[in-house]
Amino acid sequence: MADPTTDPEISFTQIDVDLDVQDILLTASQHDIPKLRRLVRTQSALPDASNVKDPETGYTPLHSAIAACEADTETGTDDAKKQEEHAELLKSGAETVRFLLQEGAIWNDLDNNDETPGCLARRIGATELYDMIVDAGVRAEMLLSRLEGYEELSDGDDEEEEEEGEKEEGAEATQTEVEAEVEAPELVDASETHDVAIATSTGERLANPSVSNTGYLDSSLNITTDRILDADQNGVMMSWESSIMKKSAQNLLPRPGLKVLNVGHGMGIVDGFFQEQSPAAHHIIEAHPDVVVEMKKRGWDSKPGVVIHEGRWQDVLPGLIESGETFDAIYYDTFAESYGDFRDFFSEQVIGLLEQEGKWGFFNGMGADRQISYDVYQKVAEMDIFEAGFDVEWEDIPVPKLDGEWEGVRRAYWVVDNYRLPLCRFMD
Ligand SMILES: C[S@@+](CC[C@H](N)C(=O)[O-])C[C@H]1O[C@@H](n2cnc3c(N)ncnc32)[C@H](O)[C@@H]1O
Repeated sequence: MADPTTDPEISFTQIDVDLDVQDILLTASQHDIPKLRRLVRTQSALPDASNVKDPETGYTPLHSAIAACEADTETGTDDAKKQEEHAELLKSGAETVRFLLQEGAIWNDLDNNDETPGCLARRIGATELYDMIVDAGVRAEMLLSRLEGYEELSDGDDEEEEEEGEKEEGAEATQTEVEAEVEAPELVDASETHDVAIATSTGERLANPSVSNTGYLDSSLNITTDRILDADQNGVMMSWESSIMKKSAQNLLPRPGLKVLNVGHGMGIVDGFFQEQSPAAHHIIEAHPDVVVEMKKRGWDSKPGVVIHEGRWQDVLPGLIESGETFDAIYYDTFAESYGDFRDFFSEQVIGLLEQEGKWGFFNGMGADRQISYDVYQKVAEMDIFEAGFDVEWEDIPVPKLDGEWEGVRRAYWVVDNYRLPLCRFMD
């Protein structure tokens, strides 16, 4: 076999590749779209020219195009002129970003500073560019989520299936194109691996691909007064979320005498706030045996109006729907479930359980370990919620400082400053 360190032909090829990469990155930073088009489409022999990476910085063409838009913050004599020049730079930057995205640039590739192009745009205050990347992320995630549904449908063996199989291969290629290194949230990711999209991953509080719901339910938990950890030290629930739970409960159950269903008891924080509203009926579904033991120890089975359903919501809810139970408020906050599970929950179950004027909500932790992921997944969820026939209102509430909270927890699953609290109702 040829040795690249001694074989001159191979070394020259490597040098050519390196020069090509540098040329593409430089051209992207200069916002020179005609030259970039030539390089990406024809001149470069690189297989995926719009996603090349600088070995030192990890910059992709998207990173380079955005980094070049950073404002010169030194104040000078001609600030108005500087501002004008910067506006021009942002304009050409936006055009370059649009071009690169059209050419298949990955929206969430990480550079060596652990930043996606969107993180970089946000850090330098390039809002328009940030929004473009968020939109690209939403498109990629929606595509993945549709492909996931498509793959689920296509596992027969007739002729149509064969045709579909061919399409699937194409689909996989597209999926690979849009997949990148950033952690894929679900309703919060505990994973340490860099994964892809909510559509395909499973996880912690709708998150971590390394945690499956059945694996989690079979494992034993460490339950203390201020947290629940799973067997791998992933945070299942933590007491810092109390203000979020309080506001969620108050929004969903504004007065006494209503009927509420809570899916996922955890530490019983949200259920405690529901109880304060003296509900007429208070159903709780909890699947983990350790949590069920703990909740009974704390007397939950004898609290007013409380009915405990032991088991997974997937198994419990069809029976509740069949028996004609309906609720004024429904809250969903589970652990180690996929985004697909969550979507099934609201599009298949909530419809049969919610009173016409009722409200439902969920713990919105999708992508909360990175602002851009949080923004992308909020939009993805919003679109799916609309599609299922609901309106959603969002309210930003500040999250307390969490500096000391993560000691002993495998991964900080919350990084963003504000919690975006959802409140959903049937569309008019
Ligand atoms: C994050 S905790 C809920 C925290 C709760 N909101 C509170 O205020 O304390 C998630 C809970 O959902 C439960 N769970 C996980 N998967 C479930 C499923 N499929 N059905 C019902 N409960 C589930 C977990 O055992 C855990 O107790």
